[in-house]
Amino acid sequence: MLKGKHFIEPHDFDLNELDSIFRLADKIIANPNDYLDVCKGKLLASLFFEPSTRTRFSFESAMLRLGGQIIGFDDPGNSSAAKGESFGDTIQTVGCYADIAIIRHPKEGTAKLATKYIEDMPIINAGDGGHQHPTQTLTDLLTIRNLKGSLSNHVVGLCGDLKFGRTVHSIVKALNRYSNVKFIFISPEELTIPQYIKDELSATSYTETSDLESVISQLDILYMTRVQRERFVSEFEYQRLKDYYILNKEKLQKAKKDMIIMHPLPRVNEIAKEVDQDKRAVYFKQAKFGMYVRMALIIKLLGLEG
Ligand code: CP
Repeated sequence: MLKGKHFIEPHDFDLNELDSIFRLADKIIANPNDYLDVCKGKLLASLFFEPSTRTRFSFESAMLRLGGQIIGFDDPGNSSAAKGESFGDTIQTVGCYADIAIIRHPKEGTAKLATKYIEDMPIINAGDGGHQHPTQTLTDLLTIRNLKGSLSNHVVGLCGDLKFGRTVHSIVKALNRYSNVKFIFISPEELTIPQYIKDELSATSYTETSDLESVISQLDILYMTRVQRERFVSEFEYQRLKDYYILNKEKLQKAKKDMIIMHPLPRVNEIAKEVDQDKRAVYFKQAKFGMYVRMALIIKLLGLEG
């Protein structure tokens, strides 16, 4: 039973619970009209202390497509946080009005902190600094499950900013729970994956390189990421690293015919536009799966299934 639970990181749910969310998402995809009124009378609070396109719009679309309604802000400057209200007071106040809340914040651990101020309103982490982005992971897992047929037995290349990319941290922890998943971490040495993520993996389940072209032929899934400008202390350092990887048609020549190219988006330069025409590029399908899986998550946490 997921009713009433918070969702702060992928490990908050066991594999059966995750699978139940994916199965519900599949049912919604097959028959969206059956779910038009499921959240009628329910209110989602959408609290974005940091910019977003996909996460905010997909959650808000999800709630509206389920017949629910939304309150919230996409700029804390328009809330009483701008007058000095504490985060805890903001969350307690939102809890007086809403049935469920999503929170994106630039500071690591903020969604977890919010759960200390609330007892009976599920809180969903919509991205906390460079830490975790668990609903992007639900999106990514549903995409892999539905386009590759299974979450097991894959070689997954993660490429780009693996240091600050919270979507990478979440998906690696999540995919590591499935059998026979091997990771190839592809990054410049300044942006390698944090040690605390590697500590959870067996030594034989991953390798590291800075050379995408030398490993691309091995991959079943290539997960590209943007260099996270907003997390850099030095603009000079960002400018130096931002175009380290640019995936284009030529580099894809050595890749498997059935490899899929994923990206949590937004992209900057790391995937050339010409790649969008390649049938292996699934990042916009991935963004759409994000809405369906968030519909399923909202239904589950509000206990409205069936
Ligand atoms: N993938 C993702 O989190 O995108 P947004 O920052 O646009 O929400």
